[in-house]
Amino acid sequence: MAKFYLTTAIDYVNGAPHIGHAYEKILTDIISRHFKKRIDDVFFLSGTDEHGIKIQKTSAAQGITPKELCDQNSAKFQECWKALDVNYDKFIRTTDDYHKSAVQKIFKKLVDKGDIYKNSYKGLYCQGCECFLNEKDLTEDGLCPNHMKKPEEVCEENYFFKLTKYKDAIIKHIKDNPDFIVPSFRANEVLNQLEDIQDISVSRSVSNVTWGVPVLDDAEQVIYVWIDALSNYITALGYDTEENSEEFNKYWPADVHVIGKDILKFHSIYWLALLMALDLPLPKHLLAHGWITIDEAKMSKSLGNVIAPQDILKNFELQNADALRYYMASAAPCGKDGNYSDDDFKEKVNAHLANSMGNLLNRTLSMLVKYFDGEIKAEFKTDAGILNSAKNTIDIVKNHFDNFEIAEAANAIIQLVDTTNKYVTDNAPWTLAKEEKMTECGQVLTTVLDIMCVIASLIEPFCPNIARDMAKQLSFDLDIKYDNLTVDNIKIGKLISKDDIHPIFLRVDSELADKSQKKK
Ligand code: ME8
Ligand code: MG
Repeated sequence: MAKFYLTTAIDYVNGAPHIGHAYEKILTDIISRHFKKRIDDVFFLSGTDEHGIKIQKTSAAQGITPKELCDQNSAKFQECWKALDVNYDKFIRTTDDYHKSAVQKIFKKLVDKGDIYKNSYKGLYCQGCECFLNEKDLTEDGLCPNHMKKPEEVCEENYFFKLTKYKDAIIKHIKDNPDFIVPSFRANEVLNQLEDIQDISVSRSVSNVTWGVPVLDDAEQVIYVWIDALSNYITALGYDTEENSEEFNKYWPADVHVIGKDILKFHSIYWLALLMALDLPLPKHLLAHGWITIDEAKMSKSLGNVIAPQDILKNFELQNADALRYYMASAAPCGKDGNYSDDDFKEKVNAHLANSMGNLLNRTLSMLVKYFDGEIKAEFKTDAGILNSAKNTIDIVKNHFDNFEIAEAANAIIQLVDTTNKYVTDNAPWTLAKEEKMTECGQVLTTVLDIMCVIASLIEPFCPNIARDMAKQLSFDLDIKYDNLTVDNIKIGKLISKDDIHPIFLRVDSELADKSQKKK
């Protein structure tokens, strides 16, 4: 693997970020940080999706221009990602000039090729989805199943993209590449949706929508959201149909697009067709994650249960986002839905990060100071048996990441923590010290500390701040790439003094959590 290019969905800026958006960005950031520890050229793209009728209407209701609304809200997303330590390499806004001009050229290229044509159209449009729906997609009451709203009847002249031309090639691609859609059980949903696809409308008349990228040579039409939005993955790299940039040549095709299951159809069908029409290589994987619910209910403004990620940090008085990152990453295995609740959050991060991982490091270092004045002696050999399970965990975690099984990877790391805790209990270094078996005692402690270095390295993509703190107390170089990571990490000599030992994660206070419950 020479390079790795990964992207998130770009969020609509008609509101502020919530923990559903945060889940996806954290997941992608963890994947990015993991692969940055395996290869040099990783490029992580995120951004905001800023055109469309929703933005036009929301800004009008607030008495500001659409661009002002986009500026305000895009800034909120970017601030939020900063607070969550989401470290993208580039942030694209679809109102950026280079993007708009590239989208116009892409559109023109497809018109010239005959893959985009003009036609009059009557259909049912859902503003929430920003797309036309078929009668059969609707609920029994004629509502959009995602937004539970009646779609509006739209009759206008639009440009259409010849999706049907690419139908067979898309079906073949999905069938020939069983690991293209992750998790694979979602591929069948897509194949079903493909059965009755139609050509899609890709522009809107300016009589209905003005806030979009204008079609070149046709002042009556703006390019509509999906061509504009999906193209971000290539325009961000400098693609504009003509001379392609160095970055585009280096990074395209994407290794993975991380998206929610609700927009899988757009990525697995529309995006593939567009790329085929542009004669470009196809992305290697689509990771369709599940939905984050709050106390088992769908998050929505009308239910009043929308949670902003920063509020969780504030309510629990957290110094950084590590606990939330860890919790979110393990919330939903295998692309399933996941749930957030304050109680579960508190319980899980206290159990895993404070009690299991934090205490293990803390008591081991404390024993090293108590029995050996913080020094690792040359005669402390290490225990090959358990070091072997640590070594295996490195491979297991890499393998989970190769399959985009992020919750499973987190789980494998915590299992190693548990195994190591059991090793300490079984070997009771305090008893060995009492019996004056000092070499054996030192051996147990050194073995545990060697493993703690592996744990720090593996947990870093999830909890970068905690990992840095662990590495500092272990005098361990966190920059080591996974290929060079061994289980022989602790150097002979003085490791630490009493005053330099401190907890890596403080238990989330239960009183604070109660306070946050009351605020709701
Ligand atoms: O769909 N749980 O934008 P968006 C998990 N602009 N993920 C969630 C979620 C939840 N409760 N709510 C939203 C769009 N998401 C388009 C994308 S990409 C070229 C264009 C996820 O703001 C959602 O699945 O509605 C999507 O992946 C992302 O947040 C942005 O959603
Ligand atoms: Mg959405």
